[in-house]
Amino acid sequence: MKFSTKAIHVGQKPDKETGAVIPPLYLTSTYKQEAPGVHKGYDYTRAGNPNFTNLEATLASLEYGKYATVFSSGLGAVSGLISTMKKGDKVVATNDLYGGTYRLFNKVFNNFGIEFQAINTLDLQAVEEALKTKPKYIFLETPTNPLLRISDIEAISKLAKKYDVKTIVDNTFATPYFQNPLKLGADFVLHSTTKYIGGHSDTIGGVIVTNDKEMKEKLDFGRMAIGLNPSPFDVWLASRGIKTLAVRMEKHAESALIIAKYLQKHPKVTKVYYPGLEEHVNYNIAKKQMSGFSGIVSVEFDLTLDQSKKLISTLNVFTLAESLGGVESLVDHPASMTHASIPKAEREKAGLTDGLVRFSVGIEDIEDIKNDIENALNNL
Ligand SMILES: Cc1ncc(COP(=O)(O)O)c(C=O)c1O
Repeated sequence: MKFSTKAIHVGQKPDKETGAVIPPLYLTSTYKQEAPGVHKGYDYTRAGNPNFTNLEATLASLEYGKYATVFSSGLGAVSGLISTMKKGDKVVATNDLYGGTYRLFNKVFNNFGIEFQAINTLDLQAVEEALKTKPKYIFLETPTNPLLRISDIEAISKLAKKYDVKTIVDNTFATPYFQNPLKLGADFVLHSTTKYIGGHSDTIGGVIVTNDKEMKEKLDFGRMAIGLNPSPFDVWLASRGIKTLAVRMEKHAESALIIAKYLQKHPKVTKVYYPGLEEHVNYNIAKKQMSGFSGIVSVEFDLTLDQSKKLISTLNVFTLAESLGGVESLVDHPASMTHASIPKAEREKAGLTDGLVRFSVGIEDIEDIKNDIENALNNL
């Protein structure tokens, strides 16, 4: 089966009891047992729920993995991964990382003795040096949030295997439609399903997909033991959203490229970050490992911080809000919003300046999206 057929049919079977075409929403915390300990595979929703099982089947299939575990959020999924670690274990990660992931490693789990090192994963020599320190995991985010940098998944997974380190890829920005890290040699794929997978900015969730049965069991255990489970309704919404992922992603990518090219020529723009532009520093790696470049465009304007803030506050089609990947266009100022949790010095070291603006290009009419940015720039 091809992608869009799998997205619509795997884990999306009509209900056996009633014939309802859409799998029902199992809003239940608990399940009747025939005798103590005898049940139909579910005993308590913190441990499992048919809606979780359905979405896990869809996501495992789309990511070419055998197993998936859904979580309460993308960061819930990262916490699930960390639940498989112990004191003294280390994670090496991409330095240009979603601010919340950075905060989780650096401000929470480091207090429990989990070591964290952020490195430039575009530099294979730096990666190899870090792998020599024997981390348990190398955590890649590619494309990164917000600078859209691309790490070479295949090359890094190969190097990691040499040092017996497992590779995990946060594939939130690319989605399984454009990039499949397990096929490139990674051991785990992580998503915030809050973004493109849900696609409508109405659900929060996360997932980890793997081919490793033992790790699937550990991730399920971590979810249940810590309480990292999502709500069945959020999962049901993600299962609904994922059916249109293919058509949405085509449109997001088509419009994002138009916006990236338009902004590249604009006199008030100093730099455009979009992996689908030939000028992008990692264009060749992006082209090798992605079949499309998704819908996020980050832009450095030749504006003062106040002007940048005014610009993004005067947009109309774009809503000023955190998050991304929904059908509606959103705009974000990473330094003061999504990435404010990273200290300024660290941000600047990673190339994330105060002038950077991140556009999540939605699937509205492209003329309206373009005119919105043009009008806001003209009105400054
Ligand atoms: C790349 C990436 N990974 C993970 C997350 C965390 O996901 P959630 O907000 O669902 O916890 C985000 C959130 O913006 C993200 O952009």
